[in-house]
Amino acid sequence: MTDSLSQIASEIAKCEKCKLYSTRKRTVPGEGPDNAKIMFIGEGPGYHENEQGRPFVGQAGKFLDELLASIKMKRADVFIANVVKCRPPQNRDPEPDELASCNDYLERQIALINPKAIVTLGRYSMENFFPGAKVSSIHGQAKKVKGRLVVAMFHPAAALHQPKYRTLIEEDFKKLPEYITLAEKEVVAAPAKPEEPPEQMSLF
Ligand code: URA
Repeated sequence: MTDSLSQIASEIAKCEKCKLYSTRKRTVPGEGPDNAKIMFIGEGPGYHENEQGRPFVGQAGKFLDELLASIKMKRADVFIANVVKCRPPQNRDPEPDELASCNDYLERQIALINPKAIVTLGRYSMENFFPGAKVSSIHGQAKKVKGRLVVAMFHPAAALHQPKYRTLIEEDFKKLPEYITLAEKEVVAAPAKPEEPPEQMSLF
């Protein structure tokens, strides 16, 4: 059977692979066009996302919309997902078993969408691509991971609460259009071997 985003969403809707299923109200698989050039990956649903079944619809989501508007993009142009698809109670951090259980859904979404660029929002999403890195050290830099451009950024919620992060994420967003243009021009290299460390793109 060929995979599809709706197939993944229907599996997530029934998912009981980790304990988060017992406290969730709605699953939040992610949304956006299946041919989006850019994919944003956050942490996990919060209160409003759990109520509505849609990603980034609370305060952090409003800020994400503003950031997108600052580079003349709309939510409808991009795919927005999270590393965990169900709300951790009281918005606690996702736990390792929850991240592991949910990872396959995210991998399948990335494979289907095949975006030119991925933007990780916050630590848990970054960890998927840059294990052991610090957002404060690598944010805003375009790096290639398995042949795809990945840019780590601070989480918009952190930026809402701390003005210094707000400026940084605003500046990082301004770099995105150029990164996407360059990624589109480049002939995508064969996927790097998994054991190779992520390399800094020489163009940037
Ligand atoms: N924060 C996230 O990381 N994801 C959401 O969907 C909402 C808030």
